[in-house]
Amino acid sequence: MQKKTTIVTIDGPAGVGKTTIARRLADTLGISYLDTGAMFRTLALKIGEAGALDFDDQSIMKFCDGLHFSLEGRGLTTQLFVNGIRIGKEIRSEKVAMLASTIASRPIIRDCLAAAQRSIGTERHLVAEGRDMGTVIFPLARFKFFLDATAEIRALRRMRDAENQEKHIDLASLTAQIRARDEQDRNRSVAPLRPASDAMSIDTSSRDISEVLGIMLRHIDASGGKALFGC
Ligand code: DC
Repeated sequence: MQKKTTIVTIDGPAGVGKTTIARRLADTLGISYLDTGAMFRTLALKIGEAGALDFDDQSIMKFCDGLHFSLEGRGLTTQLFVNGIRIGKEIRSEKVAMLASTIASRPIIRDCLAAAQRSIGTERHLVAEGRDMGTVIFPLARFKFFLDATAEIRALRRMRDAENQEKHIDLASLTAQIRARDEQDRNRSVAPLRPASDAMSIDTSSRDISEVLGIMLRHIDASGGKALFGC
């Protein structure tokens, strides 16, 4: 018999803090998190390396069939693998992100990753974060959140993160890149970025991570979440 899993979805634009919050929320609930942006980034990198960007749908499908995504661990130690190899920092550039956003508008790419995402969600309780988790991938998810903040604030946060790692990023060009990606992600015809009608929207512009987490946990708790996750 298929296990009944409970899914929490977090959607929102680039740089809003989805991954950090998904990791921490999953840690508190004692479950795994799925960073679906990392799946799109990995596919973009692999398709780019193989020179397959202009491939037709059938060839892309074959390419996708050769990639198997899997998840191990829980909370902060959750790890995403492709064909048994851990996905790491190689996908974390704005160039790869933009390529991911571009290929993400192709239905064949979305179908390929949707199957992998849903399959992971049938195996275990999950905090799933991305752009279309609450609208398309897990429309029946028990808890849905949509995070937002202005592009300027998101860029500023990214710049500060980079500075903490002693990297310098030009704020104006980062803001422009984030805006361009928002534009693509919100305006594509398949699975555009938008809040699900039953999602709780949280503006994170003037809230730190702990405040946002507090709002989410109170909502989950008030809706019987603790019993579902056994925490
Ligand atoms: O979350 P991220 O910034 O790592 O995502 C990179 C790109 O991947 C994003 O700009 C659009 C695409 N993406 C998507 O279309 N759907 C998702 N569920 C997750 C990411």
